[in-house]
Amino acid sequence: MAFQQTILVTGGAGFIGSHLVRLLVNEYPEYHIVNLDKLTYAGNLENLKDIEDNPNYTFIKGDITDEEHIQQLFAEYRFDGVIHLAAESHVDRSIANPMSFIETNIVGTVVLLNAARHHWEDYTGKRFYHISTDEVYGSLGETGYFTEETPYDPRSPYSASKASSDHLVRAYYHTYGLPVVISNCSNNYGPYQFPEKLIPLVINNIRHNKPLPVYGDGLYTRDWLWVEDHASAIALIYHKGRIGQTYNIGGNNEWKNIGLVQQLCDIMDQLLGRKAGTSRGLITFVRDRPGHDRRYAIDASKIKRELGWEPTIQAAEGLRRTAEWYLENTEWLERVTSGAYQQYYQEQYGEA
Ligand code: NAD
Ligand code: DAU
Repeated sequence: MAFQQTILVTGGAGFIGSHLVRLLVNEYPEYHIVNLDKLTYAGNLENLKDIEDNPNYTFIKGDITDEEHIQQLFAEYRFDGVIHLAAESHVDRSIANPMSFIETNIVGTVVLLNAARHHWEDYTGKRFYHISTDEVYGSLGETGYFTEETPYDPRSPYSASKASSDHLVRAYYHTYGLPVVISNCSNNYGPYQFPEKLIPLVINNIRHNKPLPVYGDGLYTRDWLWVEDHASAIALIYHKGRIGQTYNIGGNNEWKNIGLVQQLCDIMDQLLGRKAGTSRGLITFVRDRPGHDRRYAIDASKIKRELGWEPTIQAAEGLRRTAEWYLENTEWLERVTSGAYQQYYQEQYGEA
């Protein structure tokens, strides 16, 4: 079958990537979606079981820092577009081991940029879409929002590596005319998120009656977005975003960490049929994350104004759906938390 276009999605076996790949494969049967993923601890083909046999889907195991392999894939598949999500994504891991963040997030992005530049003889109809984070903007006080014009001020190895990759993507636009677009999104949540991140970690620990580690005073603020809303924003920007532009994506849904954890405790108590207040008793304030950004909040008015995108799922519904998904998928949770996760947990929290 001749496809209308072939899109390379990197990191499609991860949390956000798997939601995006599913959306593209199901909603665009005329596209060939090629998912390239290294399958690190965070990548999991179980996340894509339901679409793995679709005729417009191909999975390739590979590393974006492997220049030869990437060049060969561009030659073989003649990609029309790239949606680049592959990354090391967890801030705490970047504090413990920055180098893999530099390699994948910076070097890997440049390998992809070079491949696109060299293989795309004519840029007409081509698009290199880089997925990034609001963490590049640094930390806000009690008020204000990140806009697309906010100066970069990354403060963790993770956010510095993402900021660096954003700058390189823009540099390829200005220097070589590569048709790029970038989006910077706030904290995602929903099914298939690896339980190193706050929400699934808390849900999993409540299941096991384990302490719920809240960093510092718990008064850090994040803006949470339902992951499928992010995936739909990405599909929209891929098709309609203006070349050379940046779009901020946010949930308009700010929570202080302690309030979010308490809310999750209450939802879980209801779902597990436990006495109200039981899970809140597990909350434990622990040593703060070094360089912890106080508050993130997104002004998403540009994507709303230009492309008509808005989040569809509100927190009350999204958090409940998320908790229900993890309770219905305990085998998935058990599998991803066996093995290497135990060692990570021990090193990060001092207990298995
Ligand atoms: P994730 O850690 O769940 O998934 C990352 C995926 O990339 C995994 O499947 C992993 O196997 C793959 N990968 C890692 N290194 C690779 C390499 N060298 N080559 C090929 N594949 C590799 O991450 P996520 O939360 O789904 O985030 C996806 C992207 O979105 C990242 O670029 C991240 O910076 C960005 N982002 C995430 C959030 C969030 O809240 N999770 C918010 C904004 C932006
Ligand atoms: O803002 C977008 C970013 O959101 C993405 O770019 C990152 O890839 C993603 O990991 C996420 O980063 P955060 O550091 O905000 O997410 P995390 O779930 O690790 O932490 C959320 C908040 O909860 C943060 O303030 C730290 C705090 N926290 C986290 C963990 C894991 C705790 O208090 N205890 C914990 O055990």
